[in-house]
Order: sequence, then structure tokens, then C-alpha cells
Amino acid sequence: MPERSLIYAANWKMNHGPGEARAVAERFLSLTSPVKGRSLWFFPPAVSINVLAQATRNRPDIRIGVQNVHWESKGAFTGEISVRMAMEAGAHSALAGHSERRQLFGETDDQVAKKAKAALNLGVTPLVCVGETLAEREGGRTESVIMRQLGPVLEALEPPEWSRVVLAYEPVWAIGTGKNATPDDAAQIHELIRIELGRHGITGRVPILYGGSVNAGNVLSLLASPQLDGVLVGGASLDAEGWAELVGLS
Ligand code: PGA
Repeated sequence: MPERSLIYAANWKMNHGPGEARAVAERFLSLTSPVKGRSLWFFPPAVSINVLAQATRNRPDIRIGVQNVHWESKGAFTGEISVRMAMEAGAHSALAGHSERRQLFGETDDQVAKKAKAALNLGVTPLVCVGETLAEREGGRTESVIMRQLGPVLEALEPPEWSRVVLAYEPVWAIGTGKNATPDDAAQIHELIRIELGRHGITGRVPILYGGSVNAGNVLSLLASPQLDGVLVGGASLDAEGWAELVGLS
């Protein structure tokens, strides 16, 4: 059996400007070393990508990503950054469709698909997030919401391109709330997503991370499910000691 590979992704959201990012990275590097089959991804604010890429350049197990990109390559889009700009700063992955982008900034399913496509076109790995709100879950609409979110991405990308895509299932009600899906809940949705991918002719295994209040106390029980290929972590990734402890647990 091939050895399992796990991705531990840190989503720093709007935390850690360049100075803090460097300090956290240096401390984290001093506490960890590369482990076979484990990749560590960091999504700092855009202004900190470059210092983080520099600070971690000798660690092949670490990859830096951007939290958001625009799908156009340049132009009159005040406040946006292109995939190429993020790459120039040192990003190799791009989050697309994080629930905060969808909910607070009105990012649509179609825009998420365009962002994922733009990233892939330049060789940047999109990490596409999907997940339902509490009202949607309680209304029995979890599955239909996730299928709706995936739809335009499935339309925009050719099946072979999916070998370069990573997904994250992040139930919105679990993000930053301290509540997290049970390992069974998460595994069930991951399985549904895989069935949907299979229906679209995507045969290889697309890694699916779980996110939403993951911490050192629950990560092991979540990762015990073979449906999970890693975790996407916000709050518990912000401090070097805590994040080093969490990634060292598996
Ligand atoms: P959280 O955030 O771990 O703080 O719940 C996860 C995320 O939003 O990616």
C-alpha cells in the first residue's frame, strides 16, 4: 500500500504582517524538521508571502500559498492581486472559495471556479474550499450546497487537471466556533465529494482536507479517517509552538 500523505495547511487569515510572520516562521522552523509524507502549507496575508517564502526556502516540506487571487492577469482591479504576482512573491498554492471570502466578500461559485482555473493555468495549486452554513445543514441541504459549489469548478476544469487540485471541506458552522464536525460527519462528506468527482470522470485521488476548529486535541481523531488527506487550520496555526505541536502529532 502506498504510504499516506498528509497536508497540514495553516490559514493565517488577516494575522501576521511581515515582521511577525518571519518571527513565527523562524520559531516554527526551529521546532520542526521535515517528515516523510507530511507537507506543511502556509497561507499568510499577501504582504507576508515573500518573507515567509524566504524564511522557509531551505525546507522542501514547506509550501507557501496566497489566500486570494483575481482571475485576470492584470488591469484596473483595485485591491486585487494576480496569480503571477503571488507567484513572484513566492506562492505555489492559492486558496479559492474560503467561506469568509464567500460570506463577507460576496465571492460566487463562478468566481471560485475562475480563480481555480487561473491558478492552474500558471502551475499554482488551487485549494478550493466548500462547506455549508448551519442553516443549510439544519435545513438538510448540506449535500446540495456542496454540489452547487463544486459545479462550476467541475465545469471549468478538465478531468486531468484535477490531479493538481486540492479540496477542503470546511463546514461554515465549525469555523472559528470551537465546534467541529465529528470524524464521521467529515468522512461522509468527503466520500460524497469523491463520488461526485468520480461521476465527472475524475479517477485519481484528489486530496480533500478537513477544516473548522481543528486543534491539537481533535486532529488525531479526525485524521484517523482515511477519507481525510489533511487539515486546514486557522486559529490553531497562528502560534509557532501550538502549530508545531499539532503537525507533530500524527
Ligand atoms: P479555524 O479556521 O481553524 O479557526 O476554525 C479554519 C479556516 O477558516 O480555514
